[in-house]
Amino acid sequence: MTQDEMKQAAAEAALAFVEEGSIVGVGTGSTANHFIDGLGRMKSRIRGAVASSEASAERLAGHGIELFDLNHVSEMPVYVDGADEIDASLAMIKGGGGALTREKIVAEVATRFVCICDETKQVEVLGHYPLPVEVIPMAQALVARELSALGGRPVPRAGFVTDNGNLILDVHGLEIRDPAGLETAINQIPGVVTNGLFARRGADVLLLATPNGVRKLTA
Ligand code: A5P
Repeated sequence: MTQDEMKQAAAEAALAFVEEGSIVGVGTGSTANHFIDGLGRMKSRIRGAVASSEASAERLAGHGIELFDLNHVSEMPVYVDGADEIDASLAMIKGGGGALTREKIVAEVATRFVCICDETKQVEVLGHYPLPVEVIPMAQALVARELSALGGRPVPRAGFVTDNGNLILDVHGLEIRDPAGLETAINQIPGVVTNGLFARRGADVLLLATPNGVRKLTA
């Protein structure tokens, strides 16, 4: 089984979490894309979706799924998204695709966060994958200095601008033993929009695809 087939298997398993007649929160990335394609097959059974990026919005629209503005949505039973790394407590690093801010906003509104991953994303300690931090451009140097003081090695993501018009610093060399604490600490730096740690609000369910099938883990 290839990694992409595992991503697809996790995404298919997530369709069972979609409630009839609901508005679905939709993540970003190659695993989320498989979920969007599955959602396309059941579009007559949902009201529509809120997208966490322009790319996902475009793919959802391509399937004829109605898109909702998050400001007009008060109830969202589920948000489905991938992750770059996930630990045993279901804390995650996200934002490899640069959509971390909108992902965190949409996830916060949802009652349940269902993470869909292949088994390569599961780690004991977060941080081997560089932690993305979205930054207001004028604060780039300040934020980089503060992230270095926290023990990381921030590297600007070359030629990349987020959907919100900001920059990404990818922080290398972290060994994240306290994900919720670091998430809060980075949020305190002026100029940081969002960091890619999803620990204060981690996943509620992990659908982890392995060559032997999809395992369901709960927080
Ligand atoms: C997008 O910004 C990310 O948070 C993705 O959810 C994450 O990078 C996982 O992407 P893949 O599903 O492509 O591995």
